Amino acid sequence: MKSADALLSAAREAAKAAHCPYSNFRVGAAVLCADGSVVDGCNVENASYGLSICAERVALTSALAQGKRPTSLAVSCIDASDETDDQADTAALRMPCGACRQVMLELLPSDAAIHIDGVGSRNLSALIPQGFRLS
Ligand code: THU
Repeated sequence: MKSADALLSAAREAAKAAHCPYSNFRVGAAVLCADGSVVDGCNVENASYGLSICAERVALTSALAQGKRPTSLAVSCIDASDETDDQADTAALRMPCGACRQVMLELLPSDAAIHIDGVGSRNLSALIPQGFRLS
């Protein structure tokens, strides 16, 4: 079983590949799969801004495309500033967005551990309480 630290290191490394010329905000994610492997991803932006995709969704959909079963995820916003004194704002810069939380709900176990660099670990059910499901 990979530790949270190992998964966070993979997420930090993955962030270096980010394509983010518009925001200059690099994000990396790493997904631990049931077979013990790790699949990573980074944010990939587009000149048509709405087509941009977050690191978490790149990692999760890549794992699925490789026939793997995601079990937990780490995310790292390596360009997030820690210059603010406000603890809440410091965390807000590092938290997964709402769209990614909904995709996590679809592709990870409902009690999956989500490791957030600089913030801590959360249970997925705490990140998206009463999330939308069709089944
Ligand atoms: N971003 C992510 O990759 N994951 C998140 O959960 C939040 C935001 C990316 C999207 C965009 O490329 C950049 O961060 C700034 O919003």
